[in-house]
Amino acid sequence: MNIKNMKHGCCSHSTYKKKILLAVLVAGAVSSIIFSCAGTIPSPTEIDIRRMKLRWPDTRKQDLDDGRIFYINRCSGCHSLHSPEHYTEQQWKKIFPGMAVRAHLLENESKSIFRYLLTFAKDSSYTMK
Ligand code: HEC
Repeated sequence: MNIKNMKHGCCSHSTYKKKILLAVLVAGAVSSIIFSCAGTIPSPTEIDIRRMKLRWPDTRKQDLDDGRIFYINRCSGCHSLHSPEHYTEQQWKKIFPGMAVRAHLLENESKSIFRYLLTFAKDSSYTMK
């Protein structure tokens, strides 16, 4: 755009501020998309705990935290970790049992990891987004 064309009051102070605000919002949205595509291993928040209690009333923060740590430690031996968000709940239900066998998970590890994965599954219906 030619700078001369901008003289017609098109960038009054408040419009300018709005444009900056818009740019910041767009940058935030873009970076969050890139961030999620990079494949994250999210940490459970208080909101995650609350929403998962609706599903499994005995869920404690410790269980989901343990699930995350077990997942990192027990599922990264043969391949890099897949973000839980890359698969739907149905996909995890198909994939997980075989992987649990391969990783020789103990029962408590298996339970925590499975809950952790479903907490962040792509279509987690308990997500408050
Ligand atoms: C002993 C090696 C081994 C361990 C440990 C292991 N995996 Fe895998 N995993 C594989 C192999 C091999 C494949 C690719 C071929 C296949 O799906 O059988 C795979 C593939 C996957 C995939 C992709 C499946 C798809 O269809 O896209 C996911 C997701 C996965 N593993 C999750 C896990 C989880 C969760 C754990 C921990 C419970 C785990 N893996 C532990 C060997 C392992």
